Amino acid sequence: MELRVSPRRIFRPLLALLLFSSANILSGAHAQTPAPDTMAARMMGCAACHGAKGEGNGAYFPRLAGQPPDYLFHQLQAFRGEHRKYPAMNYLTSYLTDDYLHEIAAYFSAQKPVVPAGKPATAVATAAVLERGRTLATLGDAARGIPACASCHTASFTGRLPGIPGIIGLPHDYLSAQLGAFRTGVRHAIAPDCMQQVALKLSDTDIGAVSAWLSAQPVPRDLSPAPASAEALPLACGSQTDGQTDGQAAARPAAQARPR
Ligand code: HEC
Ligand code: HEC
Repeated sequence: MELRVSPRRIFRPLLALLLFSSANILSGAHAQTPAPDTMAARMMGCAACHGAKGEGNGAYFPRLAGQPPDYLFHQLQAFRGEHRKYPAMNYLTSYLTDDYLHEIAAYFSAQKPVVPAGKPATAVATAAVLERGRTLATLGDAARGIPACASCHTASFTGRLPGIPGIIGLPHDYLSAQLGAFRTGVRHAIAPDCMQQVALKLSDTDIGAVSAWLSAQPVPRDLSPAPASAEALPLACGSQTDGQTDGQAAARPAAQARPR
């Protein structure tokens, strides 16, 4: 989605909502009793794109609900620092503190809406393409050094604490755009950026196939990520071992704290 007008002009009211609580702005002087200033009220501005409880819109806007809190925090930080680019998100996060970004991340991570089921992918992919996607996702391609997506994102693709996102319940176009962005370096994660290393090995055909297969899978009711584990990942991921941003590194399994 390209924005032709300045995001500042479009999103200023939304930012005000975030900073000063929706209750006072929406109810204004007419309110008899002001609505409570809750996170749910403040996050109403996000609902227009991400759904009432962060379930996503099924077309492009990603699901936030149930994603690991550190993962969401890293993304909000990345948008704020423009390491990840999307004008609305860059603008909305530009004035927010780390503490507030943590609060937002915790709020959406704890939401448990029913996420719309994946759509059958027959329109975008043939059976052979879907099979290629399934193979990449579940087994990888050893000959080309591509680890299975499941080896990090887990067999149910619901992700792993603290920093590996679920990749189920996300739309086809969103998945393929993110894989493309990692590959070209438009999007990057905390070093070592394992996801970029994976994406660099994927061809356009691979990206199309794995996005088609993943987005067509039934969405589990429970989207909770797996607990953190000391089991080694096929590549070191900074997002999973990073300790500077949330102070929880000491509590994490030592085996994950690999040298960068
Ligand atoms: C105008 C629509 C819009 C609004 C409003 C909006 N977002 Fe987003 N958001 C997006 C889009 C589109 C993306 C994906 C951008 C991309 O392609 O990288 C995104 C991405 C995100 C991500 C990263 C998700 C992931 O899986 O990596 C987070 C977290 C997020 N938004 C949080 C919020 C929060 C919190 C609010 C409210 C304060 C908000 N967004 C408001 C459109 C919006
Ligand atoms: C070595 C571990 C590892 C492997 C293997 C891996 N990923 Fe990831 N992936 C990650 C991490 C870590 C992140 C979060 C990066 C960040 O913090 O932005 C991520 C992020 C993503 C995202 C962004 C999700 C969102 O909501 O924006 C997508 C999409 C994705 N991976 C797809 C895949 C696919 C498809 C494969 C298999 C071809 C794969 N990944 C293999 C570790 C991995």
